[in-house]
Amino acid sequence: MISAEAMASTQAALRHFRVEVAEGVATVLVDDPGEKVNTIHPALTAELVTVLERLDRDEAVRAVVLGSGKEDGFVAGAKIDLMRGATDAGAMERLSRDGQAVFERVARFRKPVVAAIHGACLGGGLELALACRYRVATNHPRTSLGLVEVQLGIIPGMGGTQRLPRLVGIQAALDLILAGKTVNARKALRLGLVDEAVPPAVLLAVARERARALAAGELRRRPARRPAVERVTRLALEENRLGREVLFRQARKQVLARTKGHYPAPLRALEAIEHGYRFGFAKGLEREAQLLGQLAAGPVAKQLIEVFFASTALKKDSGVDDPAVKPRPVERVGVLGGGLMGSGIAYVTVNAGLPVRLRERDDAAAAKGLSAVAAVLDERVRRRSIDRLERLEKLRLLTATTDWSGFGAVDLVIEAVFEDLALKQEMVRAFEAVNPRGFFASNTSSIPITRIAEASAHPETVLGMHYFSPVHRMPLLEVIATGRTAPEAIATAVALGKRQGKTVIVVRDGPGFYTSRILAPYMNEAAQLLVEGASVEDLDHALVSFGFPVGPITLLDEVGIDVGDKVGKILHEAFGERMASPAALHDVVAAGRLGRKNGKGFYTYGGKEKRVDETVYDLLPGGRSRKPFSPGDIQERVVLQMVNEAIRCLGEGILRSARDGDVGAVFGLGFPPFRGGPFRWADSLGTKALLEKLETLRARHGERFAPAPLLVERGATNAPFHG
Ligand code: NAI
Repeated sequence: MISAEAMASTQAALRHFRVEVAEGVATVLVDDPGEKVNTIHPALTAELVTVLERLDRDEAVRAVVLGSGKEDGFVAGAKIDLMRGATDAGAMERLSRDGQAVFERVARFRKPVVAAIHGACLGGGLELALACRYRVATNHPRTSLGLVEVQLGIIPGMGGTQRLPRLVGIQAALDLILAGKTVNARKALRLGLVDEAVPPAVLLAVARERARALAAGELRRRPARRPAVERVTRLALEENRLGREVLFRQARKQVLARTKGHYPAPLRALEAIEHGYRFGFAKGLEREAQLLGQLAAGPVAKQLIEVFFASTALKKDSGVDDPAVKPRPVERVGVLGGGLMGSGIAYVTVNAGLPVRLRERDDAAAAKGLSAVAAVLDERVRRRSIDRLERLEKLRLLTATTDWSGFGAVDLVIEAVFEDLALKQEMVRAFEAVNPRGFFASNTSSIPITRIAEASAHPETVLGMHYFSPVHRMPLLEVIATGRTAPEAIATAVALGKRQGKTVIVVRDGPGFYTSRILAPYMNEAAQLLVEGASVEDLDHALVSFGFPVGPITLLDEVGIDVGDKVGKILHEAFGERMASPAALHDVVAAGRLGRKNGKGFYTYGGKEKRVDETVYDLLPGGRSRKPFSPGDIQERVVLQMVNEAIRCLGEGILRSARDGDVGAVFGLGFPPFRGGPFRWADSLGTKALLEKLETLRARHGERFAPAPLLVERGATNAPFHG
């Protein structure tokens, strides 16, 4: 032990670190004051240098453990605020170089530094850990490691592009960096990204022991043991120049296919890695910083970072404006209907650790619902994201019934029976008979919640929770409040949605709520173009090249042409002519084409390749002779319909904010994230220019392009939607 005096001097004037020295090992805990998670920023790295200098001089210190003072996170990344709205590539490059220099000092520190990792170890956090000589991580489910920068449109900028491939191999590093993937401790161990995985209770003790042993020369890092095949491919591909060129070429091809040229970051990351192998580590670092600077100041990172901030802000948003409103604690959830949606909702709920009571019509349907949940869990076991014990624990939380037993004890019920108003109203009455206090949330896709609530003696307990299919994958939840829904009910549904891992927006009740409402005119315009003679391929291709994950006609086939048609009719009735879908679409449905589900849609199914079914054109005006339309014209017409409708939703108070509108479209409909969402995109075009575009389209194609009143107002002074 060292003297209290020496310890006090080591700790003196430190704000971001807690340092403790015992038996020759200094334990340095990162603890950013006043923050829930640690992030890397200049004040912190400057202080890290001070800490290193002190520890260097301190003869009593022979080794160092670097851990976190936060309960459940190591370091979550670089402080992204530093890059928000960045326009100066040079300044961003300098920021990166400064960070690199500090991490270089960690890497070259003459006493061994061991990283003790528990919780999120992402981006700059992992780069810090990579600079350490040895890494111990906890095998806790919260622990995740990854260089996720490309998700924000940037690349690792503190040595990650150079250190990771040298540690885990080029192929493994490319897999992680180019997709911004994270791995758990088990996978990290297999990759050689960490040296040991241990239970949280012994993390610091193990790390200290390893630090001591490294200093004493009793322990040397062993490279991860790899299967023979992997060793051979490594030798062939990674350890010679020609092999590496093959690897990089393949990776570049894959990235281009995946990003369709919209996201520059993965290619730049690849460039930094390649540069480091060609010209050495130091040159690699230089290139990394340069490229990071350019990306951070560019338009794609700007939008992706805003999407990140918007979804982070939503995590802290209770869903109601009054801070005095608190969600009711939810300990048990009921689900009505165990079909496609109900089973998905049951899964995300038990996955969050909450008991679920599921009601179905009969035993067979109940059994089907249970097996659907089990199937998702089985898939996770196969992918090794959970083990068999965890599967069992989650499944045990789910029970099914065909009566109302157990529903008196739930705090909230989510209804996902057939899309039928009378049936849903019957569910409301029956539920209230056994549970007058519980909240009733409907997952209806198109019935106004207000109508469902008409059956209730307590309409303040009724609201909508609109999930997307498949529920376990789609990140968005739209919570729908009627004019009478109690704020407490809204806050409760929002809190539950967050526990289920969803990004939640709250919207006001109205036909189509928000997401279906803005999707309808987008789909209608695509259908209109079909009627005018555009080809299915041209339409899908145009919107995919705009950045949507799939084109509108593919989407229609996937969702079901009949479903699209049905929702379209409801919205047409509600909003009148501007939402009318072309009559030809009804003919397609009438001809028995429902889309993928019955193997007959705009595309053919069953063959090896997805191909347009030319016979569908016989049902459309113009028949099989299609006319060329430019991608630009298609994009403008189809996307502006969506954007204009989103602006109407904001103007009418369906949306609480432009932020929610952006997040809803990006997470619910696949609006291209690099464009920031309809409102950010509108701002980037300029509201004045957007207004003019719509007026031009209106003159050419008719009143359905009449600009939203709020756009007319903002466009007059070119005022943006985001302040
Ligand atoms: P589904 O047909 O797969 O499931 C409905 C389930 O409700 C069936 O398993 C049926 O047996 C059960 N059911 C019927 N009457 C019942 C009763 N009296 N008590 C208990 N269970 C009963 O339908 P899906 O797709 O799951 O849709 C359910 C609801 O979710 C609908 O309101 C739909 O509009 C909505 N929705 C559907 C989406 C989708 O993509 N399929 C997306 C968002 C919402």
